[in-house]
Amino acid sequence: MEDTKTNITPFSFELVAQDGSARAGILHTPHGDIHTPIFMPVGTQATVKALTPAQLQELEVQILLSNTYHLYLRPGPDVVADMGGLHKFMDWPKPILTDSGGFQVFSMGTLRAIDEEGVTFKSHIDGSTHRFTPEFSISIQEKLGADIIMAFDECPDPQDKEYNMRAMERTHRWAERCLKAKTRADQALFGIVQGGIFPDLRRQSAEFLASLDFPGYGIGGLSVGESKADMLATIEVVTALLPENKPRYLMGVGTPYDLVESIYRGVDMFDCVLPTRLARHHAAQTLQGRMNLANAAYIRDEHPIDPLCTCYTCTHFSRAYLRHLVSTKEILGATLLSIHNIHTLLELSQRIRESIINHKYSELRQELLRNLEQ
Ligand code: GUN
Ligand code: ZN
Repeated sequence: MEDTKTNITPFSFELVAQDGSARAGILHTPHGDIHTPIFMPVGTQATVKALTPAQLQELEVQILLSNTYHLYLRPGPDVVADMGGLHKFMDWPKPILTDSGGFQVFSMGTLRAIDEEGVTFKSHIDGSTHRFTPEFSISIQEKLGADIIMAFDECPDPQDKEYNMRAMERTHRWAERCLKAKTRADQALFGIVQGGIFPDLRRQSAEFLASLDFPGYGIGGLSVGESKADMLATIEVVTALLPENKPRYLMGVGTPYDLVESIYRGVDMFDCVLPTRLARHHAAQTLQGRMNLANAAYIRDEHPIDPLCTCYTCTHFSRAYLRHLVSTKEILGATLLSIHNIHTLLELSQRIRESIINHKYSELRQELLRNLEQ
């Protein structure tokens, strides 16, 4: 019998090709390889809403994201650990990334207090009081057992410079504490760059975190209300300073336009609830824009959502059928639209990857931008 402990694939990132600032790579993890640039569907509650793991496999999803904040509250990290860890619990054999809770305690919970040690917040479920520290977030993420775990950070309002500076400095001290707290060798801990929309703060954050030699880096605090121009300018500042041989993950970002423009600026990984959330609100994402399938215009429309799309939904069902499902509130509507929307982002990532390898990304980007809405 082989000792599984010595048989673990260590985490590493291989840069396969570069085209301008855009990159194609391979991330090696204990649960398999990830070809980048890559979109990660979100499974907040250890499930990608409306989809089975078999359907995710069929979609060729390479890595899922899940959330420390939600799984801590329900069912609790000890339940997940006792059930054999997150992969086994949800029957997902491929890589998983967990976010640290650093963002969710601010966006989901009711904030009580932030201090040097950590954050006290109230649960959005029952109002009970809880406290996260960097050490506690790492210990939860170790119990969940994802391949990639995230540092516990503070994600402030992007406009207030004074506050952003203090939050960024605290995030840096918390990043060092996360590194110290980590005990598992089979998980990669990513640091998170903060600093709002302020180039000098972003520069400071990227340089400081780069000096700590994390195996990868999140770019946090974006897509939280700032303009697209500010978001893209910030990404450019950060990716120019992060080490070339480490993956960069733009957190919480995921329209087709955002993918095209951030990959162009050197981002390798993305996650966003958008494709699955849109699906539950009757919307199909295409590279020509969004379609609301509840629209009466589709009552007798025999075409698929996107005639060029090769997904299960588009190769089997008409807009008329999807319109019927969403207007009768049938669960299958959300499933079929989720399949199409995730396929669209994965297919887009794959096309961009190939064009980077062939040094043709500038041309593909121009072609895509002609149709994409911001
Ligand atoms: N998800 C989206 N943005 C962020 C961020 O700034 N920090 C964390 N931890 N998660 C995020
Ligand atoms: Zn489709």
